[in-house]
Amino acid sequence: MSSVYRARDRVLERQVAIKLLHEQFVADEGAVERFRREATSVAQVAHENVVTVIDRGEDGRRQFIVFELVEGPNLKEVVRERGPLPAADALHYAIQIGRALGFAHEQGLVHRDVKPQNVLVAPDGRVKVTDFGIARTLELEGLTRTGTVLGTSEYVAPEQARGELVGPATDIYALGVVLFELLAGEVPYGGDSFVAIAMRHVNDPVPSIRARRPDVAWRLDTAVARALAKSPADRFPSMAALVTELEACLAQASGAADGETAILTALTTVQPAPGSGAPAAALPGRKRSVWPLVAGLTGLVVAAAIAMIFAVRDNGETGGGTPAVVLRAIGAWDPPPGDGQEHDAEIRLATDGDPATAWSTERYGAALAVIGKQGVGLVVDAGAAVALKRLVVQTDTPGFTAEVLAGDAAGGPFTRVADERVVGARAVFGLATGASHRYFVVWITTLAGDAARLNEVTAG
Ligand SMILES: Nc1ncnc2c1ncn2[C@@H]1O[C@H](COP(=O)(O)OP(=O)(O)O)[C@@H](O)[C@H]1O
Ligand SMILES: [Mg+2]
Repeated sequence: MSSVYRARDRVLERQVAIKLLHEQFVADEGAVERFRREATSVAQVAHENVVTVIDRGEDGRRQFIVFELVEGPNLKEVVRERGPLPAADALHYAIQIGRALGFAHEQGLVHRDVKPQNVLVAPDGRVKVTDFGIARTLELEGLTRTGTVLGTSEYVAPEQARGELVGPATDIYALGVVLFELLAGEVPYGGDSFVAIAMRHVNDPVPSIRARRPDVAWRLDTAVARALAKSPADRFPSMAALVTELEACLAQASGAADGETAILTALTTVQPAPGSGAPAAALPGRKRSVWPLVAGLTGLVVAAAIAMIFAVRDNGETGGGTPAVVLRAIGAWDPPPGDGQEHDAEIRLATDGDPATAWSTERYGAALAVIGKQGVGLVVDAGAAVALKRLVVQTDTPGFTAEVLAGDAAGGPFTRVADERVVGARAVFGLATGASHRYFVVWITTLAGDAARLNEVTAG
């Protein structure tokens, strides 16, 4: 529907890329609307791994978008030229794509058309995700149906192929396919037609990379398979979780030798087949730095290493082996001009351990500031005064902003301990608590839709 041209910006004297909607679509309202949206979607996602939008407009009736020019091939061209990539290279690309998409998800945006053709590789090796042409905002439209016909079905998630609801997990699946292709040199499911390939995504078993690339580590094989799970619920719970796992795989693939990472790598290598030679075979070419370390570890040393890792972790995070803090939602914080209550009956749902249930603010037709509210909040009780380091909020209405307050009485006063930020599907607030407090407030300052839901609030 469009062509992308290299162009010259005569004002700022630089090269740019211009995406121009084809002439025959100027009267197609749907196409024009999608094109407009593409520019606004990308503009929401200012991230080093997302192509930057510079401007949009129309010339006569021809819509155009101006982007930064990325002087490099797209990732499809890279695979065509290089074939299967070394695991470390494939991971390097996939991690950057994952970071870009994870950031988009935090802004409440699902890409829905993740494929190597939509990933540009800059000369310095940095990747830039582009083509948010059919991206959809979650907070405006909720989980959305596929709606638009895709150009290819090679990266289509089963739920998307069936025309069901799509969400962040749909992008996780597509990134799984991309990573598979980078490693195997070809997509997992081929076929003669769009529909035939889509049906294979729905019905065929999840393919193993190791069946085609036996040199790929088990851990990476498992990660790809999990991203490719047929049911969205069986995939990684978030793009951030996938990225974290891929980073661990990369540390393993590049034989990281630094402190904790090296020990963790060694432990995960030992686990599949303790005492047998199998793990060595699983990591040909990668055993140089990791394997001698593993071979040298007796059971005792392994136990000590585990203890050391936990000691290190406890020190930093929970203050030396104290049990994790359990938070209990006890009330809404809705100071004047609020009416002092906000769906009080649902309050416990925010800390019931079930992310499917939630406490919701009341529905507001206008921005909070417009109706004179500074915010609306949920009070959680730590049971006793604690120097809480982190507060984790999970929501299925991402895009609202919140800060965290703390105090020593359930009815306030409260002081701010974490600054305002946009809350994605899962937000971790780092708390600046010098002192201990018993009560904490998730203080919602602006809404993305007409209400915000807190599905789970936990101590990090
Ligand atoms: N900013 C850019 N810099 C350089 N090349 C680009 C840029 N944007 C797109 N391209 C090239 O144009 C191709 C198509 O761009 P894309 O935005 O995906 O359009 P379409 O909607 O037609 O798929 C990309 O695969 C890439 O090769
Ligand atoms: Mg494209």
